[in-house]
Amino acid sequence: MAYNAETEKKIKKLIDEMTLEEKAGQLTLRGVGMVLGSDIPDYEDLRCGRVGLLPHYEDPKIANEIQRVAVEESRLGIPVIFCLDVIHGYRTAFPIPWSEAMSWESELAEKTASAAAKEATCAGVKLTFAPMVDIARNPCWGRICEGAGEDPYLGSKFAYARVKGFQGDDVSDPDKIAACAKHFCAYGFVEGGRDYNCVDMSESRLYNYVLPPFQACIDAGTKSIMAAFNDINGEPCTSSKWILTNLLRERMGFNGVVISDAFSVGALVKHGVAADEKEAAKNSLNAGMNVEMMTLAYRENLPELVKSGEVDGKVVDKLVSEVLRLKFELGLFDNPYVDVNKGKKVILCKEHKDLAQESAKRSIVLLENNGVLPLSKNKKIALIGPMADDQYEMVGEWCVTCRKEDCVTLKTVLEKIADVRYAKGCGFDDDESGFDEAVKAAKESDVIVYAIGQSQDLCGEARSRIKLVVSKTQEKLLKLLKKTGKPIVTIFVSGRPIVLNTVKEYSDAVLFSGALGSMAGYAYCDVIFGDYNPSAKLVSTFNQSYGLGGTGYYNALRVSRPACEDTKWCSKFFDAPIKPLYPFGYGLSYTNFEYEGLKTDKTEYKKDETVKISINVTNTGRFDGEEVVQVYVEDPVGSNVRPIKELKGYQKVFIKKGETKNMEFEIKISDCGYYNRNLEYVVESGKLMIGIGTNSEKYDSVEIFVK
Ligand code: NOJ
Repeated sequence: MAYNAETEKKIKKLIDEMTLEEKAGQLTLRGVGMVLGSDIPDYEDLRCGRVGLLPHYEDPKIANEIQRVAVEESRLGIPVIFCLDVIHGYRTAFPIPWSEAMSWESELAEKTASAAAKEATCAGVKLTFAPMVDIARNPCWGRICEGAGEDPYLGSKFAYARVKGFQGDDVSDPDKIAACAKHFCAYGFVEGGRDYNCVDMSESRLYNYVLPPFQACIDAGTKSIMAAFNDINGEPCTSSKWILTNLLRERMGFNGVVISDAFSVGALVKHGVAADEKEAAKNSLNAGMNVEMMTLAYRENLPELVKSGEVDGKVVDKLVSEVLRLKFELGLFDNPYVDVNKGKKVILCKEHKDLAQESAKRSIVLLENNGVLPLSKNKKIALIGPMADDQYEMVGEWCVTCRKEDCVTLKTVLEKIADVRYAKGCGFDDDESGFDEAVKAAKESDVIVYAIGQSQDLCGEARSRIKLVVSKTQEKLLKLLKKTGKPIVTIFVSGRPIVLNTVKEYSDAVLFSGALGSMAGYAYCDVIFGDYNPSAKLVSTFNQSYGLGGTGYYNALRVSRPACEDTKWCSKFFDAPIKPLYPFGYGLSYTNFEYEGLKTDKTEYKKDETVKISINVTNTGRFDGEEVVQVYVEDPVGSNVRPIKELKGYQKVFIKKGETKNMEFEIKISDCGYYNRNLEYVVESGKLMIGIGTNSEKYDSVEIFVK
C-alpha cells in the first residue's frame, strides 16, 4: 500500500515547495509538445514540471525514459501518470462494454477489466478513462456502445464491477490502474442523441436514472471521474460548481480527481460561458475540476488567476493535493518505472484469450430460433456476409491499442470445424458484385450462416445517426438467399440497437452481438454448434422503427394517455409502432424455461423490511442452460409519476434439462423508493407489484402492500 500515514505530510511539503507554474503543471494532462497523435515527448516541459499526466506511449522503454526525466531531472521529482482509453481491452480485445453487459454477468466484466488493466500496465499505463457508465436510451447516440445500456440498476452493477476490476483493492499493485468513471454527467441524454449536444433534465430524473451508476463507481472507490462535454440545464459540466462540487463531492461523496474531457476547458469559450481561456480556466478551477485535458488554459493562466485573487490559492492547493495523493496511491512515488519485460508474459497470454472467448460467447444474444440452431457439425455451411471474415470489425469501437491481426474471425474458426463454402456476398453498405457467388454457395449447402451488421466505423463517439436500419444491400441479399429455400442463421453485429424487422422475418435464427474482440470467431462457433447454449439478454430495447426520439425504452414514466390501438388520443406515433421488437431483458436459449409458483413471504411490509420472493424455474427443453431470472417492481400510484416498471434484481442460474430450481430474491422495500421533485428520497406507502420472469415484458407478478 503506497499511501500511508506519512503521505499527507509529504503532499503538504510538496505543495509548500511548488511554484504556481508547477502547480498548474500538475493539473495538466497533455503530451508534452504533443499534438494529438504525435509520439514525441518534449523533455524540457517535463524538466520544468509543466505536465502532470500524459497520454500513454506504447513502448515501455519510452515510458520509463519519460518517467526518469520527470523523477530525476525535474526540480521536485514528481512522477507523471500515463493515461489511456482502455475501454474493452489493451491488446486482448474483449467484447465492447454494451455487448458484454448483455451477459448480465458483472463478475465477468470485473475479470475482463482486470485483465485489460494488467496488460495496460505493461506499457506503464496507470489510469484508464473508463468505465463509461452513461445510461443511454437513444440509439441515435453512437456512444451507446461504450456503456451498459438503458437501465440504472444493471448499469450500476457493471459500473461497480468494472471499477473493481481495474483498480482491485490496492491500486498501487503493479497490475492495477486507476479507473476514471465517465462522463459526469447525463451525457447519454444529449438532445436527440446528437453527440456533444445539450442536456435539459429535471434534477429528480438525474438522480433517479443518471447518477446511480456513478454512485456505484464512487462506492467501488473510483480514483477519478471525467466531466462530460455537455451542459445540464445550461451549466456546462466542465465549469459547474453545482455539478462538480455540490453534487459530485458534497452529495455523492467523491474525493478523488476530476479530469476534464478532451479540450473541454478551452471549449468553454465556444460553449459561450467564458470570454476567453483565462475565464474558462477560472471557472473550471473554481468549479472543482482538477485536471485539464489537452487544452492549456490552466497552464497559461493559473499563476495570474491566483495572483489577481480570481482563484483562491487554497482552491488550487486542494486540487493539486488531490492529484498528488492519487500519484502516491498509485505507488508512483515508490516505483515509477515499469518492468519492460512484463508484456512478453502478459499481453495476449492464453489466460486472457480464454477469458476473451468466455466473455464473448456469454455476450451473444439469441433473438430468434425456429429450431435450426444449434447446427450439427456435419452440415454443409454457406458462410456469407461482410462480418464473416473481417478482423477489423471484430476489434470493437474503442480499443485503441488492439490490433486487427490479433482477432480471429468466424470464417477462420468455422472452416476448421465444418464443411464451409464462403462467399462475402456484399459490403456493409454497397457492392452487390458478390451476390451471384453467394447464392451459388447457398444452393450448394444445407444451411446459410449470414454474418452482417453495422460497421464499427458507424458507431462510437461522433457517430450519431438517425436511420438505424439494416443496409439496403445486406437486406437485398438476405431476401435473395431466402429464395434458395435453405435455412438462414443471421449473425447481426452492431454497437447499437438496429431495426431488425426484416432480419427477423427472413431468418430462421438470429444471433446478435456487438464487436466481440480477439476471440470472436471461436465464440460464435461455440454458440452456433451448441457447445455453449446462449444465455445473454438485451440491455437496450430494440424497437420496430428508428426515430422514436429516444422514447423507446422499458422503464419510461407513466403517462396519462398510454399508447393503445383503439384511439388516436394517446401517446404514440402514427407511423411507427411503440411496442418494441425485442424488449429490454429479452434473449432466448436453446432450451425453454417455465416459471411457476411465484410467492412472497407475506403480503404487508413495513418500509424497513425486505420482501422474500421466490419462484420455481424449470428447464423444460432438450438442453442444459442458463437463464437470467429478472425481478421487476411496479409502483402503480406514487406522489410523483413513477416508471411503468423497474428492474430491481436478477440472477443468472444454470439449470439442467428437466430440473427445477427454486429462485429466491430479497428485495428491500427501501430500494423501491425514488427521488421526488424536491430531491428527497421517498419510500411511499401503498401497493407495489413485484414480478419475476424472463424479460421486461414477460413476468408473473404478485401484489404487496407497504405500510
Ligand atoms: C473524448 C471522449 O469523450 C472521452 O471518453 C475520452 O476518454 C477522451 N476523448 C480521451 O480519449
